[in-house]
Amino acid sequence: MLDAILLANSQEETRRMRPTVCSFAAAAFAALVLTGCDADSPPARPDEDGSEQSVDDSEARLIPQTAGFDQVRALALDPHSAELPDDSLLAGQIRRGFDIITNTPVHAPRYSGNAMTCANCHLNAGQRERALPLVGVAAVFPVSRAREGRLFSLEDRIRGCFMRSMNGTAPPYDSEELLAVSAYIHWLSRGQSLGESPPWRGLNTIPEESRLAIDRLDPVLGESIFRQQCTMCHGVDGQGVDIGGVKPGPLWGDSSWNDGAGLSRVYTLAGYLRYTMPLTAPGTLTDEQAQHVAAYINAQERPTYPDKANDYPAGAPVDAVYYPRYDENPVRARLLEASGVDR
Ligand code: HEC
Ligand code: HEC
Repeated sequence: MLDAILLANSQEETRRMRPTVCSFAAAAFAALVLTGCDADSPPARPDEDGSEQSVDDSEARLIPQTAGFDQVRALALDPHSAELPDDSLLAGQIRRGFDIITNTPVHAPRYSGNAMTCANCHLNAGQRERALPLVGVAAVFPVSRAREGRLFSLEDRIRGCFMRSMNGTAPPYDSEELLAVSAYIHWLSRGQSLGESPPWRGLNTIPEESRLAIDRLDPVLGESIFRQQCTMCHGVDGQGVDIGGVKPGPLWGDSSWNDGAGLSRVYTLAGYLRYTMPLTAPGTLTDEQAQHVAAYINAQERPTYPDKANDYPAGAPVDAVYYPRYDENPVRARLLEASGVDR
């Protein structure tokens, strides 16, 4: 199966490959596919005609959206080998922030509440195109947020992901963990003009006109797509399969993100899946397929975020299927009905 996964990617891969540094590439993959994981790669790849390819900003700063499974640990900037600021406290915290993002339960155990790691969702440690990239985003804050109904700082946002996506608790503003993650994201944001949203931010969306109405979401169709395209890595039970040392986070159940997390919204999850999954061929799901699979995943049970009643002071959006705007989760109801479960 591994060979099949790698084969599916190798062609596209070789074409799109750009120099990247693999800090801890899974040995199994590194042995099979060496391209792209060579720290000594030249800075720019010559075009077929021998001329240097022009590398725009996003190309230099992000791993491409179409990078395959063998690139799952590739980095544009690796704080364990790149040049860091002279301030040794700051440099150490940047490295620690990276470690937290790539292995949260081990490096921030006090605040993480599930089996997820930030980089399970923010692929390539937040350095991948169209996978909720964190590169440059420090320049954007503070922003106003509808869910919380107030101004939000970068640190608020990180705390939010700890409480919701990690189903944990918010690290205090002066905690080393929060400052470390913030230091890493600021480091990834050097050179970004303050107040300017980077062009690669906010692209994990399903356009308004392509969104299916909630009553047209089909979790049963979503389940069949899931079984064909996802279970080889995520398992039929959604809990994740270890493939050569790489294991996705649980997609539902007690160890997954909670029902107040961003991905618990169907359109948000669909916008994520549309451009990231399946990891063997990102970008191949249609807008519709992505929404049906998202409906299937969010028809499942997951931990409860205790403070949902205080979210969305102006009213929860339609795709917030776990929120009290619905008497019961509408996609879950449809899935149970189709499977003949008596409720
Ligand atoms: C289950 C998936 C998931 C996990 C795990 C996760 N996040 Fe997020 N994160 C998201 C989503 C989805 C968004 C944006 C969508 C939204 O909520 O509006 C986001 C947004 C963010 C943002 C704001 C980015 C921007 O452009 O404004 C930051 C910063 C962030 N996450 C940091 C983290 C950190 C740090 C961790 C680990 C402690 C983490 N996230 C874990 C899914 C996740
Ligand atoms: C080739 C293996 C593979 C396939 C196929 C695949 N995924 Fe993933 N997926 C992963 C890996 C690995 C991660 C975590 C990446 C990381 O930690 O760097 C992931 C992450 C995710 C995440 C982020 C949250 C989490 O729990 O980790 C979601 C959601 C997701 N996949 C859904 C899907 C869906 C839906 C499909 C099918 C359409 C799919 N995946 C197909 C390997 C795969």
